[in-house]
Parts: sequence; C-alpha cells; structure tokens
Amino acid sequence: MTAKEVRVGLLGLGTVGTGVVSIIRRHQDELRHQVGCPVTVKKVVVRDKAKPRPVEIEESLVTDQIEDVLFDQDIDIVIEVMGGVETTRDHLLTALRNGKHVVTANKDLMALYGAELLQVASEQNCDLFYEASVAGGIPILRSLSDGLSADRITKMMGIVNGTTNYILTKMTQNGSSYEEVLKVAQELGFAESDPTADVEGLDAARKMAILLRLAFRWMLV
Ligand SMILES: NC(=O)c1ccc[n+]([C@@H]2O[C@H](COP(=O)([O-])OP(=O)(O)OC[C@H]3O[C@@H](n4cnc5c(N)ncnc54)[C@H](OP(=O)(O)O)[C@@H]3O)[C@@H](O)[C@H]2O)c1
Repeated sequence: MTAKEVRVGLLGLGTVGTGVVSIIRRHQDELRHQVGCPVTVKKVVVRDKAKPRPVEIEESLVTDQIEDVLFDQDIDIVIEVMGGVETTRDHLLTALRNGKHVVTANKDLMALYGAELLQVASEQNCDLFYEASVAGGIPILRSLSDGLSADRITKMMGIVNGTTNYILTKMTQNGSSYEEVLKVAQELGFAESDPTADVEGLDAARKMAILLRLAFRWMLV
C-alpha cells in the first residue's frame, strides 16, 4: 500500500528543529517527488510553549507533553532534535516499540546507546537514521553503511570537530594563542560558553565512536 502522507512528530524546536520545520515546508515539492507523498509535521514537542520561535508554527501543533508524539498512532516518524541522553534514550525506545521510525541528530545518544537503539529498531522493523549526528554536511554515515559496505576499511581519519578545527587553524595562520582564539571563537558563536566537550575531545571521541562502529562493524562502543 502506498502511504498517502508521511506524518512527522518533532522532538525539539531549537537550532536544528527550526531548520527541520522550514526545510520540510520549503522543500515540500522535492520531498513529495522523492517520497511519493506529502511530508507533514503533525506535532512539535518543546520545553516552553510560550517561547517565541523564529519559524512560524501553528499553536495547535506545539506541545510540552512528549506522550503526544510517542503514543500518537498517526505519527509515522519521530525526529529527535532535543538533545539529552538517558531520558531521550527511553523516549526513542518507546517510539520504536510503538512502531515509529526514528531520525536523530544526537551524537551523544548514538555514541552511548546507538547499538541498543539500532537493535530495537531492527527487531521492530523500523528505520533509525542518524546522519546529522556526525559530519551531516558531508554526509558520511550512509556512505559508510551503504556505499562502502563491501569495502574493507583500514583506517578512519578526519577533522570531526568544527570548534577545534577553527581554533587550530587560527593559531597556525595567525600565530595567536589558544586562549585568544578561543575567546574570539566564543564571541563569534563557533564555541560554546562552556567549551569543555569540544576542546577536551569528548565531542570528537563520540563522533569517532559512531564512525568506527560503522567502519569496523563494532556493535558495542
Ligand atoms: N546545533 C547544531 O549545529 C547541531 C548539529 C548537529 C547535531 N546537533 C544535535 O541536535 C540536537 C539539538 O541541537 P540544537 O542545537 O537544535 O539544540 P537547542 O537549540 O538547544 O534546541 C533544543 C530543543 O529541544 C527542546 N527540548 C530540550 N529538552 C526538552 C525536553 N526535556 N522536553 C521537551 N523539549 C525539550 C527545547 O525546547 P525549548 O525551545 O522550549 O527550550 C528546544 O526547542 C542535539 O542533540 C545536538 O547535539 C546540533
């Protein structure tokens, strides 16, 4: 049977979620062509319903109750762009067990619980896609899992953290100190006010854990 509509439940309407909503709207013709039917956002979960949003969204679509998405029989796909690890894992397990396909941009979650979530997705005959979690602009994950699936990968190298890439580039080009460049990166919004996850390597380590699982078929990370 051909679906008449693909209905999306969005978890999070921040930087990424706002982009998801506007792309689904602006690229509706392309999506309809690719998928074969319209793709519509049915519900959006946020923490604070009263917060002004940079994207126009009908009030009736916005909720602060995650169950409105997880248990809605009409929602086909859950797109998780709210971040968090332990609770978010529980939510996505619930979504998968309710037969919903899941898309997530959450590298922390996928690095720590990716194997479990992928296992449950497979048991439930659901898709779990997470391309945006690592180098989404390239993109690399689907290339590894599909395009290179019969190749033997021997080494994985790359710059996976934009903040440290910026800092190291500026230090090399301008001879500036680490502290100076970090301050500029924070002012420009390239580095968080608490840059620990980036500059201590945690972000890069989690991204590499996801890449290595695909490249070397590791199920446990
Ligand atoms: N930003 C990037 O460039 C980027 C790139 C790749 C991947 N990612 C990943 O994408 C995810 C989202 O990032 P982001 O930058 O979009 O984050 P963000 O701007 O902080 O947005 C998070 C959104 O989730 C909602 N939210 C958070 N916790 C919630 C909860 N417990 N219940 C209901 N809603 C909740 C927030 O609601 P309120 O708005 O009401 O507070 C907000 O709308 C993260 O996993 C991040 O690692 C981000």
